[in-house]
Amino acid sequence: MKPISLTRFLIEEQRELGRINSDLRLLIEVVSRACKAISIAVGKGALGGVLGSAHSENIQGEVQKKLDVLSNEILLEANEWGGHLAAIASEEMEHPHAIPHRYPKGEYLLLFDPLDGSSNIDVNISVGTIFSVLRCPDGVKEPTEADFLQPGTRQLAAGYAVYGPSTILVLTTGSGVHSFTLDREVGSFVLTERNLRIPVETQEFAINMSNIRHWEPPMKRYIEELLAGKTGPRGKNFNMRWVASMVADVHRIMTRGGIFIYPRDLKQPLTPGKLRLMYEANPMAFIVEQAGGAASTGEQRMLEVQPTSLHQRVPVFMGSKAEVERVSAYHREQQ
Ligand code: AHG
Ligand code: MN
Ligand code: MN
Repeated sequence: MKPISLTRFLIEEQRELGRINSDLRLLIEVVSRACKAISIAVGKGALGGVLGSAHSENIQGEVQKKLDVLSNEILLEANEWGGHLAAIASEEMEHPHAIPHRYPKGEYLLLFDPLDGSSNIDVNISVGTIFSVLRCPDGVKEPTEADFLQPGTRQLAAGYAVYGPSTILVLTTGSGVHSFTLDREVGSFVLTERNLRIPVETQEFAINMSNIRHWEPPMKRYIEELLAGKTGPRGKNFNMRWVASMVADVHRIMTRGGIFIYPRDLKQPLTPGKLRLMYEANPMAFIVEQAGGAASTGEQRMLEVQPTSLHQRVPVFMGSKAEVERVSAYHREQQ
């Protein structure tokens, strides 16, 4: 069978299945084109002068890498003129970016983490991009932060790219999850897996264990039970992996099962976890649920969290359903 390009896949989703309209198709095409450009920049490494710090800080007080800034610029530049967006929000920008008046405005809001896993850039380990699409509320001409504060259940599309040994794009528009691999010679994303499903059985977990002393009791209990292995309460051995790029860790779980955790910890009692709801947790949760998995804050379904600010952080538990349910139950018991 002939390879199916992302373009063709999206046209079929629109024309034959009526799942997306032409503006959403354009949006996904444009984001995927930006991901290709980021993939090329990442791939040049030291030769492209893209490694190292940009000597600036984002709104979250994190030092920006050159590639954080560059990826943000690539995504902004690609998306602002197409006429499909009402506004754009990013990890790297304090406030939403308005569409310049010289361009037409569309009905969608786009949010992204332009470069996820920044600490891995300089050591040549997989990084990625995460994006989420919401509808701009009716009648809003100049969207503000408040217009973005919609629960994840309202997402119309979400996706992530992983810039690893190969570049892949994983996408959902609410009817399953599909994976595309970048054909570098042709320059197009090609469908390589339809309807990804997260394996139900798992013996693998992903968490930054160095924070164990800062965890709350239900978190410690869950991990201690996994570590106890075959002779412990779970009756089997578990393996651990931690890439420190959420996209790469979650992609592994999409492929062979497992649970990804970034819990609340007492190191910074005022910030509930490290990961951001709007452009990290929600899009990944949408994808994981669409692949048959689950995503939770430990207290509630991730996609039902009512956001209160653009850059808010949440505890994250996602992956194989039974594990997410178990660790969430441990948290609820404690309340
Ligand atoms: P970002 O590079 O976009 O700021 O995100 C980094 C996040 C996430 O990708 C990863 O899971 C986590 O930070 C790694 O945290 P540790 O430094 O605690 O390992
Ligand atoms: Mn990130
Ligand atoms: Mn980032």
